[in-house]
Amino acid sequence: MQKFFFLTLLFLLPGYSTFCQDSYSLTDSGKFVSAKSAEMEWWKKTTVYQIYPRSWFDTNGDSIGDIQGIIEKLDYLKDLGYETVWVSPFTESPQRDFGYDVSNYIAISPQYGTMQDFDRLVEAVHSRNMKLVFDLVMNHTSDQHEWFKESASSRTNPKADWYVWKDGRGKHGMKRPNNWRSMSGNWAWTYCPARQQFYYHAFLPFQPDLNYHNPDVKKAMFDVARFWLAKGVDGFRLDIISAIYEDSTLRNNPPSGRLTPSDKSLTILFQHIKYNFLQEQSFEFSTELRSVIDEFKNPDRFLLGESHGDESWINGFCNYKGKKGLKAIFLFNAVSTPFKATKYRKLITKFEKYFPEPLIPTLVFSNHDRTRTMTRLGGSVEKRKLQTLFQFTARGIPFTYFGEEIGIPKVRIPLKEGRDAIAIQQSWIPQFLVDGNKETLNRDECRTPMLWTSAPNAGFCPPDVKPWLPVASNYKEINVEKQWSEPNSLLNFYKAILHLRKETPALNEGSFEIASKLCSPKILAYYREYEAKKYLVLLNMSKSKVKNPFSGGKVLLSTHPIGQDQKLLPFEGRLVEVQ
Ligand code: GLC
Repeated sequence: MQKFFFLTLLFLLPGYSTFCQDSYSLTDSGKFVSAKSAEMEWWKKTTVYQIYPRSWFDTNGDSIGDIQGIIEKLDYLKDLGYETVWVSPFTESPQRDFGYDVSNYIAISPQYGTMQDFDRLVEAVHSRNMKLVFDLVMNHTSDQHEWFKESASSRTNPKADWYVWKDGRGKHGMKRPNNWRSMSGNWAWTYCPARQQFYYHAFLPFQPDLNYHNPDVKKAMFDVARFWLAKGVDGFRLDIISAIYEDSTLRNNPPSGRLTPSDKSLTILFQHIKYNFLQEQSFEFSTELRSVIDEFKNPDRFLLGESHGDESWINGFCNYKGKKGLKAIFLFNAVSTPFKATKYRKLITKFEKYFPEPLIPTLVFSNHDRTRTMTRLGGSVEKRKLQTLFQFTARGIPFTYFGEEIGIPKVRIPLKEGRDAIAIQQSWIPQFLVDGNKETLNRDECRTPMLWTSAPNAGFCPPDVKPWLPVASNYKEINVEKQWSEPNSLLNFYKAILHLRKETPALNEGSFEIASKLCSPKILAYYREYEAKKYLVLLNMSKSKVKNPFSGGKVLLSTHPIGQDQKLLPFEGRLVEVQ
């Protein structure tokens, strides 16, 4: 039976959902009026680049990337035009989930370097006038964390209540406390013989959830945040913040009737995971966390949450009953939105509806958990350029997952060879069922090393070292060095749009308006405006040549060499200065 449930994971997006506060609406013209502050906060205007440190650049030849590697490649990001670097976890961890299982929050994992290296990183980022953000995994620790070891040792130790412990049901107390499933599809409870109780985990069994109903836990974690903020970190990406609270009465989750979850539905394997995710208390928690980071000013700090779900509910993380919470939340529905003008229009309209100024949407198409964007778009560079034009010109904070800018594809790695904990958990699934699935079940496939050059190992690590994961086999055609020298490469398109965005206030802080009259089933068009400057973005998201609905203006950037004014080529996008 368990296996049957896991089979359904083949069709899963790691998707979780939603709730509803319908407090914002569009004007008749479809215009979203932005109430701009005199000086817009840096994090609203910024562009973010996500580094998965293990796969970025190995300077000491141990087959994985390191902090020194991040420092050495900062100029690459600076030249491209990125302003903020988000680094996935590098604190001490047994690495069963590659850092998302923390065993010490205030120590650096020796594989990545030392605290001195980290201090040098902060300095190096700031000296380039950039910002540094990293993952804070608050929801759970590793089962190797001292807190958990102590908590699991007995029912009476000082940390006995630091995790979510419950007696089992049934005569012998061996039945799980309730029917909750975790985000990875398995049961959310694991038995601990020493306590003769179960502990709860929103993710994998080696990642026990902290109990935030306990004020000591909250205080300890807030102090962790303060530790890093005092070191100059510019903010955090909060890992599965959607899971931070569970229903304290442990109500059973209702059935969902849905086999296939999506980015929109909070469903795992026929279960609506209603009581262990997206509790309203998590919103309140966000406002408390906001007060902690607001203790640190000059510059003010960023707080970004990871949550799946519908925009109409998850905006509660940012604005809870009129109180400020997180500064932004990932809006993952973009990841699985079909590449169609009508769908993108609907998406962005919804983003604007639920995240109007002073809130800000996020624009994200992939990360270290999801299929590579290039693969999702069928390997089409044209589509990737068009998507990038959208991502950097619509209103929101754009995120680039490392390698997206050169189009690293998903690298097929059979489940049985997987090093990813999810792949290991599901390694019994026959490979032929996995192949062909849109979403990856083995997250190694989207974590393969950065492709720097056409040298062996793509310049990621020395030639005589075997990288921790294989480099993409087409690295000689797709790498930074090569694309840097090709004017029409995807990389140079990123560079052009990043610089334009940075230098054009309308694009990074202007108001946003769908150009309804210019839109069609094939074309998405919108305006960005700031003071007297107005720009139009025209995206032909179809594979046909279409009539250009707008003539005039000055084309500042095009996905294609600028051709006829009267027509838009298949998948052509243009940024036009209107006035
Ligand atoms: C988040 C991370 C993912 C990790 C999980 C558990 O979804 O993005 O990589 O495995 O949380 O921490």
